[in-house]
Amino acid sequence: MSSNENAQTPARRVGKWIARHPRVSGVTTGLGSACAYFGLVPTLLTTGIGVLAAIGVGLTWRAVDAPTFDRFAGRLVRAWWRRWFVYYRKWQVVTSNTGLTTVDKHGTTRAPRIRRVRSSWCWDSVTVRMTPAQEQKDFEQVLGRLANTYRARTASLRTLKPGLVSLDFQRFEPFDDMFIPLASLPESTADVDLSKLVIGKDQYGRDYAIDLVTQLHILFAGTTGSGKGSWMWGLFRALAPMIKEGSVRLWVIDPKGGMEFGAGRAMFHRFAESADDGLELTREYTQVLDARKAELGRQGIRQHTPTPEQPMEILVCDEFAGMTEFADNAISNEFEKLIGQAITQYRAVGGRVMGAVQEPSKDNVPVRGLIPTKIVLRVEEAGHVDMTLGEGARERGAFADQISESLPGVGYVKHEGREPLRVRAAYTSDADIAALVDYCTTPEATVTTLPTTWATDDTSDEDDVIEDADDGDVMLDLADLEHIEVYDGEDEDEVA
Ligand SMILES: Nc1ncnc2c1ncn2[C@@H]1O[C@H](COP(=O)(O)OP(=O)(O)OP(=O)(O)O)[C@@H](O)[C@H]1O
Ligand SMILES: [Mg+2]
Repeated sequence: MSSNENAQTPARRVGKWIARHPRVSGVTTGLGSACAYFGLVPTLLTTGIGVLAAIGVGLTWRAVDAPTFDRFAGRLVRAWWRRWFVYYRKWQVVTSNTGLTTVDKHGTTRAPRIRRVRSSWCWDSVTVRMTPAQEQKDFEQVLGRLANTYRARTASLRTLKPGLVSLDFQRFEPFDDMFIPLASLPESTADVDLSKLVIGKDQYGRDYAIDLVTQLHILFAGTTGSGKGSWMWGLFRALAPMIKEGSVRLWVIDPKGGMEFGAGRAMFHRFAESADDGLELTREYTQVLDARKAELGRQGIRQHTPTPEQPMEILVCDEFAGMTEFADNAISNEFEKLIGQAITQYRAVGGRVMGAVQEPSKDNVPVRGLIPTKIVLRVEEAGHVDMTLGEGARERGAFADQISESLPGVGYVKHEGREPLRVRAAYTSDADIAALVDYCTTPEATVTTLPTTWATDDTSDEDDVIEDADDGDVMLDLADLEHIEVYDGEDEDEVA
C-alpha cells in the first residue's frame, strides 16, 4: 500500500469509495437531503419501515413462488449480498494467501479487483480485473483453493477480455438430493398433452415438460454417457398411449448399430441401425409427409391434428454424426438435404425431428441453426455450450462442461428468464423400456401393467457412515503437534 493511501483517514476513504459508486452516492445524497428537509428521526423511521416492508414482500414472494422471485429479484439481491459479504469480505486475505497479489518495483502490493458479481440459482460468477503482471494461469493454479475458501463445490475460470476474467463458483447442486421419478403414464390418449410432456424436473424441483406443439424439433447435445438416451426414452414414455394407438409414429435411426434404441424396435414404425438404412428411412419419411402436405393442401386444412389415420410423425436420429460427418459423402449429402426439408417443411402437417449428438459442431449437425429447441447435457468443451444454446449461453450460467460425470441426465435448456434452466430427466431403466415396449405393442395391455422405477433405497444411512480408519502403527505424540494451529473454520453454513 502506498504512503499516500496510508495517510488517508477512514472517513476520507469511505467518502472516496462512495464517490466511486454512483448508486451508493445517489442513495446517500437522497438520504442527506431528506434528513435536512424532514429531520433525522422521521427519515430514519420511514426508511426503516420501507426496508422492513420490502423484506416482508420479498420473503412472501419467495415463499409463494421461488422461481419467479429468483428471476426478477432474488438473483440481484443474492449477487449484491454475496459480492459485499462473501467475496469482498475475504478478498484481500484470499488473494494474499493464494499468491494472487503482485508487488511492483516501488514495493506496492496490488491485489486483483472484483468488478462484478452475478449470481444464479446454483452458480456465482465473479468478474475480476487482473493486476498488470498477472496472467490467467495464476488463477487457474489456485482454483481449488479459491473454491475451498468460498465453500464452493467447484470453481472454473473464463477469460472475458484481456485482463478481465470470471471466476465461476458452483455453490450447490440441486440434483444431489432431488430424486426424479418417472412421470406416471397418461391413462389414455385424451390425457396426453402434447404441449406438456413431463420428463424430469428443473433446478427448483418443478416438473420439466417438453412442448411438442410449439417447441417442434429438438436437439440433445452431450458427450457419451451424459444421459441423452433417458431424455428421448422419457419423451417416448410420455407419448406412450398415442404410440400404442398409432396417432404418433416413431421413425428411428440408430446409426450406432441399434445400441440405444434396438430394444424398442417393436414399438417403432420404422427402425434403421445403419447409415444406409437411415437414409432410406429418411427418404420414406419425407415422401410420406410430402404426400400429406399435398393432401391437406388440397383439403384446405392448415393445422394438423394427430389421429391414427394421420399420425404425428417423429423422426429420431440418435447420433447425427453417424449420418453426416462419419457417413459416406453420398449418404451425408442426401441426408443433409432431406433432414433440412423435414425440419423446415412439415411442422404444420405433424412432422417432428428429434436428434442427439455428442459434439454439436456444424460438421456433425449442419442443420443446427434450424432446430428451435436445444438441450445441452454434459459436454467435453466449454465451446460446445454456446454451439448448442447460442452465443452467450455459457456466460449466462449454462456451465454444461462443468456437469459432473456422476450426474447423467442433467443439462441446460433455454428459458424465458435470463438464466438457462438446469434440468434433469428421469432415468428410464432397461426394465422400464421393456415394459413400455410391451405396453405399446400389446393391444390388451393397460397403463396399470406398466411398472415404474422408483428410488431404490440404496442411499441408506449405512452407506454414509465412514468407518473409523484403523490407524495401524502410525503413532503421533501430542507434543509434536503443539506448534500446529488447528483451523477451526467459520462453519456459518452449518449453523441451523
Ligand atoms: N436421467 C438419468 N438419471 C440417472 N442416471 C442416468 C440418467 N440418464 C442416464 N443415466 C445413466 O447414465 C448412463 C449413460 O446414459 P445414456 O446411455 O443415456 O447416455 P448417452 O448420452 O445416450 O450416451 P451415448 O452417446 O454413449 O449413447 C446410463 O446407463 C445410466 O446408468
Ligand atoms: Mg445414447
